[in-house]
Amino acid sequence: VQWDGDVTEVLSPVYIKTADGLKRKLVGTIPHTTPKESMEALDAAVAAYNNGQGVWPTMSVDDRIKCMQKFVYLMIQQRDLVIKLLMWEIGKTLGDSTKEFDRTVEYINATIDALKDLDRESSRFQEAEGTIAQIRRAPLGVVLSMGPFNYPLNEIFTTLIPALIMGNTILFKLPKHGVLAHYPLLQAFKEAFPAGTVNTLYGKGSEIISPLMESGKVNVLAFIGTSKVANGLKKLHPKVNRLRAILSLDAKNAAIVTKNADLDVAVSECILGSLSFNGQRCTALKLIFVQKDVADEFVKKLAAAVAALKPGLPWDKDVKITPVPEADKPAYLKACLDDAIANGAKIINENGGYANNSFVFPSVVYPVNDKMTLYHEEQFGPIVPVVPFDTIEEPIDYQINASHGMQVSIFSNDPMEVANLIDPFVNLVSRVNINCQSQRGPDVFPFTGRKDSAEGTLSVFDALRSFSIRSLVATKATDANKQ
Ligand code: G3H
Repeated sequence: VQWDGDVTEVLSPVYIKTADGLKRKLVGTIPHTTPKESMEALDAAVAAYNNGQGVWPTMSVDDRIKCMQKFVYLMIQQRDLVIKLLMWEIGKTLGDSTKEFDRTVEYINATIDALKDLDRESSRFQEAEGTIAQIRRAPLGVVLSMGPFNYPLNEIFTTLIPALIMGNTILFKLPKHGVLAHYPLLQAFKEAFPAGTVNTLYGKGSEIISPLMESGKVNVLAFIGTSKVANGLKKLHPKVNRLRAILSLDAKNAAIVTKNADLDVAVSECILGSLSFNGQRCTALKLIFVQKDVADEFVKKLAAAVAALKPGLPWDKDVKITPVPEADKPAYLKACLDDAIANGAKIINENGGYANNSFVFPSVVYPVNDKMTLYHEEQFGPIVPVVPFDTIEEPIDYQINASHGMQVSIFSNDPMEVANLIDPFVNLVSRVNINCQSQRGPDVFPFTGRKDSAEGTLSVFDALRSFSIRSLVATKATDANKQ
């Protein structure tokens, strides 16, 4: 596709041979939204909402569902191309890219079903203290939806789709990486929804997003990323107390492997939790606490299993470790490893610490302690820091003092020990996993977090509520009205 004006080159994390040596493959180009175009997009979203009187917010639930079904139909036509672009743009394996696309389609279909249920619930009349009321679900206005590169399609759609189907109008900032994967879907948005309903932007946040927030016309900020960026954006809004924020933010989820754990189960689940998509998941396990009695045996098994993971390109068979899209990530990860080594830890597994261009082989680092960057930073990469502990109070203290609280995974085969650990962690994080890795799904389950990890709740059911308000139509419960 040829564009006029300023464009950004979208470079793959995959290097290819060129006349000038190995280079990142050029996947395509994308035009920047200018600050002026960004404000025009805002005007279009505001006009389409029209104080709740626009075509979209006043459309019946049935008709909104029909538009969404048309979108899904058009989206599915683009399946192969989107999957291919995900692999080239963010280095996600063929299996995981396919899963991301299919999970997104399932998410939209489940959202449609959930809306039908919610609508049935809203159509019923309720009576209390002589008043009869219909409690409807009404939209909130203009929603600004933004998300990260690791699930460029799926995660953004977990806010955009429920916000849209509830009758809001949307400003949608494409992610920095995984941007072209959206390109085949933009036409589908255009064909399926009324003009001005979904408005797409791409560019630097400080140039095109800050003015949107400063305008005060954004009613909901739906953001998945860091708390630092989210807080910065919220502060720009002149009526921040009237801004609804649905946020999924920082995490550094811990695994706790006690001396009573099945170490083989703990190893395989900790690998899934720490290294799926090269550790680039907010739900990833980023600190593995292991009780000292079994630490040596656990680390040995873990290192052997990590060394056996197959590195390669996203489309290679059985590949587990692929190139990372963020250009500065390999150097940052190396600095984390150097810091851990300088403070007394070792890289335990064969090939650990190896990096070449955008490719970083995973490292099991042991013993990690609170003097190291790896203990504190999310690092969002293929490093597995292992922290030995004596008593269970140590990982509990870690979570009490942490600025985040998303998930924890407990590994133990002693039912009493598990029971004693569930209670403190239920009040410190938003999901406690027993003998399994941490993850967001299934998408019908609530997804949220404590402290700096989240604001509001996402899931097929929760998101419909998060992007709407309960609005009553009420009257006196006379005999005539009850008819
Ligand atoms: O990066 C954060 C995602 O919400 C992780 O989702 O647990 O399904 O991989 P996931």
